[in-house]
Amino acid sequence: MSCDFLAMAAPGVRNLMPYQPGKPESELRRELGLSDIIKLASNENPLGPSSAAVQTAAATLSECARYPDGNGHELKAALAAHHGVDAACLTLGNGSNDVLELLARAFCTSADQVLFSDHAFAVYPLVAQAVGAESVVAPASGAGQAMPYGHDLAAMADRISHRTRLIFLANPNNPTGTWIDAATLEAFVSVVPETCLVVVDEAYTQYAASCGVSTALDWLTRFPNLVVTRTFSKAYGLAGLRVGYSVSRPEVADLMNRVRQPFNVNLPAQAAAIAALADASHLARSVELNDVQRARLVESCHERGLSSLPSAANFVCLDMGRDAQPIFQAILRRGVIVRPVANYGLPNHLRVTVGTEPENIRFIQALDEALML
Ligand SMILES: Cc1ncc(COP(=O)(O)O)c(C=O)c1O
Repeated sequence: MSCDFLAMAAPGVRNLMPYQPGKPESELRRELGLSDIIKLASNENPLGPSSAAVQTAAATLSECARYPDGNGHELKAALAAHHGVDAACLTLGNGSNDVLELLARAFCTSADQVLFSDHAFAVYPLVAQAVGAESVVAPASGAGQAMPYGHDLAAMADRISHRTRLIFLANPNNPTGTWIDAATLEAFVSVVPETCLVVVDEAYTQYAASCGVSTALDWLTRFPNLVVTRTFSKAYGLAGLRVGYSVSRPEVADLMNRVRQPFNVNLPAQAAAIAALADASHLARSVELNDVQRARLVESCHERGLSSLPSAANFVCLDMGRDAQPIFQAILRRGVIVRPVANYGLPNHLRVTVGTEPENIRFIQALDEALML
């Protein structure tokens, strides 16, 4: 007897396409037999994590027969002090991806709509679809605008209906790198009905702060329906340990907590995050490196006649002026992994994570060779 598992699956899951991560180095090594590979495909910190975070995490391994603190008390206390909020406002996640999913699971049903922009982070439609909610995609800013392909908040406001339960805004956005200025964002949040949560995804906020992009955290007391998500995966260099969190009203955190797995952030991850938060100098070095290297990377690309989208993050989205896929493949064959973004509706663009100076030089060499083919 054969079972129709597809028919058995939840409706939202039947047509779900799994998230496509950046190609791992080990996969390219296996496929092409290359040994010298650099990965600029997943917006990780090229300096790696704080050494204090690594040591602290390693020291917890002898305790790993025990479950971690399911409520993440110490990490929440550190985050609460860091942000000047009550610990009850925090929800911890297995990466901020987990937090985005908790929001959809806690607040959305098949009767609801989830609103986000075209070219916004790929996880938003996935979490909506998985719970059977309807995704509403607002058109992005035009190519000729100040923030090309970025969020158009007027277009988003027009699409809010009585069924909109969640709005996802990435500031800055991945994969474009574009951002929303504080006045525009604040005006938008103030017109969203309180029956709809506005989730401002600040995965790249530490990089963006040095470009003058504000955080929405300061408005939490004014807007009860605001949720801000953060991650330790990017500027803190802990992507492999999976720690993210949200800051919201305690009532919202309480509901998210009801659908959260009991031990979703593991023991070394909690310890590493606390140590990373305390290592302000590693964070400052990471942001400074990114500022300098992003400017050089953009300049090198412009010298080659390639335009880039404005970026306040640790990556740049480059316009190849033609189908980017063959260029991506040619760069890949030279041992450099970047990210094609055709799945984001940007078939001519490649997203390149800002690396160290030698990594960026290697990328530019590979790009030069690829462009000559
Ligand atoms: C805008 C944005 N939000 C959230 C995430 C999720 O990151 P993590 O689950 O590692 O915290 C990413 C990762 O690339 C991202 O780009």
